[in-house]
Formats: sequence, C-alpha cells, structure tokens
Amino acid sequence: MKELFTIDTHDYNSDGHVHVRPSARAIIEKDGRFLVMHSRKYDYYKFPGGGIEAGETPEQALIREVREESGYFVKPETIEEFGRVLRRNRDAKDPDAIFEQHNYYYFCEIGEERVPITQEDYEIEEGFEPLWVECLFALTRFNRDALRRKVGDPALIEREMRMFDLADEAMRKRLFARDEAGAIRALGKISQDGSPTEAGQAVPDYADMLSFVKETLEPVQTEGEGGIGAHKLEFGYSRFEHTKRVLGWSHRLYERTPDKTGLRYEDLMIATIFHDVGRAVSAVSGGDHAAEGVPITRKYLLSHGYPEDRTEYICGLVADHSCKWRMNDPDIDRNLLMLMEADLLDDMGVLGLVMDSMIVRGRKEDATFFDCYNHYCRYTLPMQKESPMVTPEGRFFWDEKTEIVERFVELLHRDITI
Ligand SMILES: [Fe+2]
Ligand SMILES: [Fe+2]
Repeated sequence: MKELFTIDTHDYNSDGHVHVRPSARAIIEKDGRFLVMHSRKYDYYKFPGGGIEAGETPEQALIREVREESGYFVKPETIEEFGRVLRRNRDAKDPDAIFEQHNYYYFCEIGEERVPITQEDYEIEEGFEPLWVECLFALTRFNRDALRRKVGDPALIEREMRMFDLADEAMRKRLFARDEAGAIRALGKISQDGSPTEAGQAVPDYADMLSFVKETLEPVQTEGEGGIGAHKLEFGYSRFEHTKRVLGWSHRLYERTPDKTGLRYEDLMIATIFHDVGRAVSAVSGGDHAAEGVPITRKYLLSHGYPEDRTEYICGLVADHSCKWRMNDPDIDRNLLMLMEADLLDDMGVLGLVMDSMIVRGRKEDATFFDCYNHYCRYTLPMQKESPMVTPEGRFFWDEKTEIVERFVELLHRDITI
C-alpha cells in the first residue's frame, strides 16, 4: 500500500522493544457527504476504524470497526486501498517500548441497513458519535484547535487532521471522475432513448471513442511548459480536456435546439469527439490539425463498422470545423455550425478568466492583480463581447458568459481601486 506520511514523535528509546499495532480506517462517501466520528468530549474528528485483531485481515477489521462505530455495513466489493500512515511514539503503557501503529486507509461504500452502535469504553468516555459532513477539509481546523488545547491523543488527532486534507483532495478527484464517467454513460443512453439512432444500428460506444482520442492525444496532451503545441500556451492546456468540454457544449446546444431538422445527434457527438484528434499529428508536423484529423477519424470509424457514407460525413465535419468564417453562410450544414459554436463556447466565460489569469502569471512571474485586470480589459472582455454565435441557442450560452465576465471585471476594478 502507498505510504502517505509518517508521524514520529522521537520521544522513545530507539533500542526499545517495538509493539506493533495495525489498524484499518474507512473513508466513506455517500451522496457527496462523508462519514466521520466526532468526539463530543474534545470536539475533534476522525475516520471510523480501529485495530486489526489477531486472525483478521485489514478488510475484515474495517468492516467490523465501521459496523461497531457507526452501525453501517461496508460493502466488501467496494473496498479500495488509499494509503498507509505510520505512527511511532513511546508506548504509553510500557515507557521503555516503542508503539508503532500502521494505519491502513481504505475507500469504501456502505449499504442502507443499519444496526445499533457498540462502543468500546474509551469511545463512550470520549463521546464518539458518527456524523455525516459535507467537507472533510473543513474538519482540519477542529483537530488543529484540539491540538492547541492539548486534549485527547495528539498523535491520533494530528494524523486524522492530515488525513482529512489528503482524503479531501483524493475524494474530489474521485467524484470528478465519477461525474465524468456518468456524463459519458448518459451520452450513450440518450441515443438509446430515442434520439436519431437509425433502426437496427448499434449505439455508438462514446466511451471507447473518447479513450481512443485520449490515447492518440496523450503525447501532446499538455501544451505549454514542455509540450509541443504550435500555439505555445504558458500553462498546462490539455487538448483532451478541451474535447470533453466541447462535447458537453455540443450536447447542451443540441438539447436546447427546438427544431432539430437536419441535425444528427450521433454524427455531431462523434465529430465533436474527433474534432481535434489531428493535434496529435499537427503538433509535430506543423500542418493543419483539422485536415490531419480526417484520416485518423476515418480509420477508427471504418474499422468499427461505420458505413462509408456516414464516416465520410463525419470526416467532413472534422475537416471543416476550423473554417469559422463559414458560420454566417446561410447554407452551412447545421451539424457543422453546432460543432463550431460548441468549440467556440469552450475556453470562454469563467473558464476564460481562469485561463487568462494563468497566462498572465505564466508570462510574468511577479504578475499583480492589476496585470490581470489589464489583460482582462484588453483581451478577455473584448473577445468575449464580440460574439461569433449564429444560432439563438449559441447566443443564449454566449451571452450568459459575457454577462459574467463583464460583471467580474467591473467588480475587480472596484476591488483593486480605492
Ligand atoms: Fe480545432
Ligand atoms: Fe477544438
């Protein structure tokens, strides 16, 4: 198991006998909330869990401890390793010995069923109660305060405090990945539920397409520091992340459009997934990324059983997606227009503000708030105000972003001027 950190108080005789005590602890999330144990007596928090008994595996101990402390049943199949924390200090019961605790932390899920809590004496004495909290990081301040007040077991309180911080970040990553996976699954489901999937045709495997594009873009994923991108951005910009966001915009635009004449949902989704795949080649060759994307898209689709005419249509969308000057052509293909609008909607609004702040900082190490404000006024805001959107749906989302950026810059001006 991955080593997270060590707490060593160095208050022991290093030649002393070592008493090893392993323990298992659970990081449990349900509907965005986390299960923790609160000490009513000292007002600090810890994760549910406890000592691994003789003959028990860490997983068995985890299930038993969670049941005893909170009454919930851990689903064994959901147990997943997070990391190990080593704690070493003088043994309170045997001053000549070293107390060494190996704490194994796991992510896991619980079922609905609940039984009464059975607590050990010290747990009753500290008034431990299971609680659901919104944010693990917010608990660190309680433990920090308990350390200041010198109550309870300082090594335990410090360990759990640091774990709240680590687990908070890890959970955020996990929940983000889960939302993302859910969104991809939802895309597949939408086609199944009656949008334009032609009869007898299999639902496209968007997840497989996305992972193909991800793998293809991997070597050039991040433009910026150390990347190969032709447009050198001064921070880590992932083309694949951009692709996923544009996919979100294509989907949103499609959903919002009442008249779907000429729109082909699946072709739009597939073209969006592949629209920038050519960056994998153009980053090295210096060629046009839209054109470079065509053979890659064609090869994938044909080898996955897509008929030639549909494949060519999708390739056409990929090939033309950069020709943004065609957006005002009244005869433009509606799917192409939607892809273009989706592509342009990304990197704007609040995301544009974050991105431009990173660019400012990348260019100038001692960048100030004024430098950012200056950049927003000269580049971000004018670009945002010049809407390239053609459809009412595109305009709706663009205007929403413009409003936010205008207000942001206005408030920033107020905040940095006296
Ligand atoms: Fe592009
Ligand atoms: Fe793009």
